[in-house]
Amino acid sequence: GENAIPPAPYIGFQPIQPRTDPLFDEVVVADGYQAKAFFSWGDPVETGATKWKADASNTWQEQLKQAGDNHDGMHFFAFPDNNNRGLMVINHEYINPTIHTDGLIYDGNGKRLPDDVKKEQAAHGVSVIEVNKDSHGEWQRVYPSLYNRRISTLTPMQASGPLAGHDLFKTVADPDGNEIIGTLNNCSNGFTPWGTYLACEENWHNYFVNHDKTDYQSRVSHHRYGISNDKNDNYYGWSTIDARFDATPDASLPHQGYVNEPNRFGWVVEIDPFDPQSKPIKRTAFGRFCRECVAPSLADNGQLAFYSGDDTRGEYVYKFVPSQRFDKTQMDNNKDILDQGTLYVGRFNDDGTGRWLPLVHGNEGLTAENGFPSQAEVLVNARAAADLLGATPMDRPEWATVNPHNLDVYVSLTNNNKRGKEFAVNAANPRPDNRHGQIIKIMEEQANPAATSFNWSLFVIAGEKPDATDAEGHKVADHLVGNIQGDIFSSPDGLGFDQDGRLWIMTDYDDDDPFMANMGCNQVLCANPQTQEIKRFLVGPRGCELTGITWSPDYKAMWVNIQHPGLSYPASDGKTRPRSTTVLITKNDGGVIGS
Ligand code: FEO
Ligand code: CA
Ligand code: CA
Ligand code: CA
Repeated sequence: GENAIPPAPYIGFQPIQPRTDPLFDEVVVADGYQAKAFFSWGDPVETGATKWKADASNTWQEQLKQAGDNHDGMHFFAFPDNNNRGLMVINHEYINPTIHTDGLIYDGNGKRLPDDVKKEQAAHGVSVIEVNKDSHGEWQRVYPSLYNRRISTLTPMQASGPLAGHDLFKTVADPDGNEIIGTLNNCSNGFTPWGTYLACEENWHNYFVNHDKTDYQSRVSHHRYGISNDKNDNYYGWSTIDARFDATPDASLPHQGYVNEPNRFGWVVEIDPFDPQSKPIKRTAFGRFCRECVAPSLADNGQLAFYSGDDTRGEYVYKFVPSQRFDKTQMDNNKDILDQGTLYVGRFNDDGTGRWLPLVHGNEGLTAENGFPSQAEVLVNARAAADLLGATPMDRPEWATVNPHNLDVYVSLTNNNKRGKEFAVNAANPRPDNRHGQIIKIMEEQANPAATSFNWSLFVIAGEKPDATDAEGHKVADHLVGNIQGDIFSSPDGLGFDQDGRLWIMTDYDDDDPFMANMGCNQVLCANPQTQEIKRFLVGPRGCELTGITWSPDYKAMWVNIQHPGLSYPASDGKTRPRSTTVLITKNDGGVIGS
C-alpha cells in the first residue's frame, strides 16, 4: 500500500526487572529517569479547595473542588502561543471505598448514606489543571488558576447529535431530553485537533438497576448492556437513594420516570478546557456502548476517524468517521463536526482482511422490523445493531492509538477467559482461556481513516516465554505462552504513540492472580513498531494498574497514572491510605523520554 515506513524509533534505556515483592509500594523507572507524584486524589483543584485529609473525612462539598479518584485517560493541551504552559485534563473513572473514612456503608434499611453517595459522585468525572514549566525547566501545577476545574457526576451537560431531544432521552427530570446531569466511569479518552478533550463513558451500566424483570427482558437498551435486574447488584447502590439511577419504569410519571436515564450514558463527552464556563457536550453520533476510548486519526487532507473499543468480553471495535474534514484554517468550522458522521463496527476475517460495517439505519436489516425504526435506535443500541451486521466479537477491546507516521491503528485486546467457550477462537483472538491478551494492528486501505476495508495482523501476543515455569516449577500451559520479543507482560490496556513513533504499552492485570506470578506488578513498556522489540520501562506499586499517558509538547516530560494502588502509595510509608496519582517522568539528562 501507500503506507510510508516510519523511521525506526530508537529505544535508548536499559529495561528493568519485574517486581514480584508482595509489599512493593513505589514506582520504579529505568536508570537515568525520575518519576515523582504530581497529582493525587484529594489534591486541591478549584480555587478555595480544602486540603486532602488523611483520614478521608473531607465532605462531598470539599471533594467537588478536589481531584477525583481513579485517574485514567488524560491529555496535555499546550496553550496555542506557549509550549511551556498547558492544561492537563484527567479522567476519574470510578471510586474506591477508601475515599470514605469507614468504606462503603449501608444503613439498616439497605440504603446508602446520601452524603456518601454525593461524595462518590463528586469524585467521578474529570479534572482540568493548569501546568507550567518553572525557571529550572520543571513542570509544576499552577494553583490557583481560572482554568482549574472539576467536572463530575453532578455537572450539567448538553445533549447533542441525533439523540438530543429524542424521546429515548426524555425523563421526568428532563422532559426535553436535552440536558444530562453528569458523566460516569470515564475510563480512557481522546482529543481533537481543535483542542478539545473527549472523555469516554465505560462501565456506566453498573450504576443502574431495573427491577421490572419483564420490562428489563424486553428492553434491549438495558439487558444488552448488562444493567442490573437485581436489587443491590450494582457498584455502589446509588439507586437505593438517588431516584435517577433506578431505571425501573414508573407508569405514573411523565416519560415513565427514569427508564431512559441509562440511555444518556455510554457516549463521548466533549470538553473545551480553554473555556472554563463551557458546558460539556455529549456527542451522540458516536453511538452508545461501554466505551473505553476514542483515539483520533487525522490524515493530511483533514480526514478524521476516531477508534474505540467496547471493553466487555466478546464486544467489538468501532470507528466513527465525521462527515466533514478538519479545517485548520478556521477553527470555528470544527465546532460541531462530531455531530455528523458514520459509525462503523469491525469485522476481522481469518485471512487478515477486514471490513468496517456501517451502523446506518436502513442498511443490512437495521430496519423497524428488527427493532431499529430510526438512526436513534441504531445509535442507542449500537451493540445490538453490530450483532445484526456480524461484527467480530473480540477479547475485550480497550485502548486504541494511531501511529502518527503512517496512521496504522493499534488496539489492545486485554484478555478474555471465555474465549474458546462462549466465543469461538479465531485468527484475531487465537487463544482459548486468553489470560494475557494481544495487541492487534489495523492498516486502513491506503492509510485512509475513512476506508471501509483494511488489513490486520497481531502486533504481539502477550504472555509467558515458551520455556517459562510456574511457581511449582511446571512448564506453563501453551495458552499462556506469548510471542513477545523482549520483556513479558500480561493484559495490555493503555496505549500511546509518542512523536518519534515509540509505542507505549500499559498493563492492567490482577497482580495477586497466580497466573501473574512471573509478571509481577503492573508496568509500562515501550515497543518499536518496526522490530517489535519491547522493553520494560516502569513498574508501579502493588495492586495498581498503569493507565493514562500524555506528554509535554517537546516529549521531554511524560505523565502516567497509578490507578487504585493497593498499599500506601504515594506516601509509601506502610500506613497512609493509598491514592490514585498522576506521576511525572523526566530524563535526568533532559532528553526525550525513551530516547
Ligand atoms: Fe476502565 Fe476497560 O478499563
Ligand atoms: Ca482500561
Ligand atoms: Ca483493563
Ligand atoms: Ca481501571
